[in-house]
Amino acid sequence: MLQLKTDKMRAEKSDGIGWMTFNNPARRNATSLEMWDAIADILGDFAADPAVRVVVMRGAGDKAFVAGADISQFAEQRADATAAENYARLADAARAAMTGLDKPLIAMVRGYALGGGLDIAMSADMRIAADDAQFGIPAARLGILYGFASLKKLVNLVGPAHAKEMLITARRLDAAEALRIGLVNRVVPVAELETSVRETCAAIIDNAPLSITANKVTIDEILKDPADRDMARIDDLTRLCFDSADYAEGRSAFMEKRKPVWRGR
Ligand code: COA
Repeated sequence: MLQLKTDKMRAEKSDGIGWMTFNNPARRNATSLEMWDAIADILGDFAADPAVRVVVMRGAGDKAFVAGADISQFAEQRADATAAENYARLADAARAAMTGLDKPLIAMVRGYALGGGLDIAMSADMRIAADDAQFGIPAARLGILYGFASLKKLVNLVGPAHAKEMLITARRLDAAEALRIGLVNRVVPVAELETSVRETCAAIIDNAPLSITANKVTIDEILKDPADRDMARIDDLTRLCFDSADYAEGRSAFMEKRKPVWRGR
């Protein structure tokens, strides 16, 4: 059982799903340093546990996914450029744990996903939102840059025109608009959000784990600058899939018209 140093993040495992919950509803789950710290621990544990096949991030309560970084910590921990760099290092480690996870990562969004909270959602492979979700990046209201990596994620998802509009106007988008511009994969009524996410997880769990990782990692490599792409890793993952027992099982199961039993090797 994973022991966390904070109760502001929660980790649970059930039915093949690792649930990571941002747990400070009184502050709309705004991320504090202790929360950034715990994210890497939770995702490290989920990554190492073969019983976890897919990871879901969510916010506690009914108001927010994550309403950004905790602004009340900025005066102390992000007061100037040097302090901001130190803060960014810790936040970056957490973001690297999210974007570097080999298992599928889903953001289950209800309520606000703002600023750094939207960046967290964009670090996931898929975003499934409730119809009450609201998205925005109020960087220009705070006088800060959103950051290269975060803007790259946004541009990759919605393209430069929508990205610029979001940053320059700092206005909030409702779920329907977020769906229209490609910021989220799906919008469902609030009451159906968890069921919809669980159904998606069940569909993922039905598929071959090595194949899922190989395809997910390859798509992430496509999004990198050509010079930064790890083509050797793609070659390794390709070989791993074609030499796997699961590939033989997938072929046999198809021919025998039965459900495959995956072993992840
Ligand atoms: N950092 C720190 N505290 C935050 C926060 C954040 N990012 N977002 C919300 N909170 C706190 C509020 O200060 C408030 O605290 P209080 O009860 O001690 O006054 C509490 O959460 C509830 O927020 P409130 O504004 O009363 O709730 P709301 O439902 O009316 O509005 C938001 C919610 C998210 C729209 C609003 O709180 C907001 O605009 N937050 C800032 C979002 C932001 O700029 N994020 C980017 C940061 S990088």
